[in-house]
Amino acid sequence: MTAINIAIDGPAAAGKSTIAKRVATELNMIYVDTGAMYRAITYFYLNNKQHFDDFESMMGHVDLNLVYDEVKGQRVILNDDDVTDYLRSNEVTENVSYVASKDAVRKYLVSAQQLLAENKGIVMDGRDIGTTVLPNAEVKVYMIASVEERAHRRLKDNAERGIPSTLEQLKKDIADRDAYDMNRDISPLVKAQDAVEINTTGMTIEAVTERILQLAKDAKAK
Ligand code: C5P
Repeated sequence: MTAINIAIDGPAAAGKSTIAKRVATELNMIYVDTGAMYRAITYFYLNNKQHFDDFESMMGHVDLNLVYDEVKGQRVILNDDDVTDYLRSNEVTENVSYVASKDAVRKYLVSAQQLLAENKGIVMDGRDIGTTVLPNAEVKVYMIASVEERAHRRLKDNAERGIPSTLEQLKKDIADRDAYDMNRDISPLVKAQDAVEINTTGMTIEAVTERILQLAKDAKAK
């Protein structure tokens, strides 16, 4: 069977990571959460910004690696520390789109992500995977859902993780983050021309997963 890469893009909380993980497990592929990489750089920025004049010099002090734990899944290692458990905090979420708009940050992460996908077998989710990181990915999906549904899903996720939030605040955060990500100068969030759009509003996780597994099957058969 042909080895493929699968790129899944879309706005905040559209269900990308849940689905990407399932698809990766089903197909015995590796799931790469690129949002977590931007979040790790944001965590570093929030803790160290006073030491640097600009993002270019800051990135010179960053060494980011992903490792895979059988039980916990993807772990983000920043300068030898596992920072994965700090990445979903409200403070990181509020600042990540700003940090992700910086050229030095994107250059560093895009090349790291391209290296990870070099040998195929990767399911990668983010905002610019189908357009910039893996423009030749064999399967490209652009996943959307209503703001209302996305806020409800994130509220449930946050409750499970013990992160305090309200529906109104989440709706605002999601809409603000989408606007920032869609309007930035460098690789804004946009559907790749050849991506298949899936509106997951009202769809079950199983149905969305099935749809992508079918796309992967079709791509492998080509
Ligand atoms: O997917 P997640 O919500 O964790 O992404 C956090 C933020 O990281 C996004 O809102 C976006 O600003 C940035 N991001 C990006 N490009 C990616 C993945 C995430 O700009 N490929």
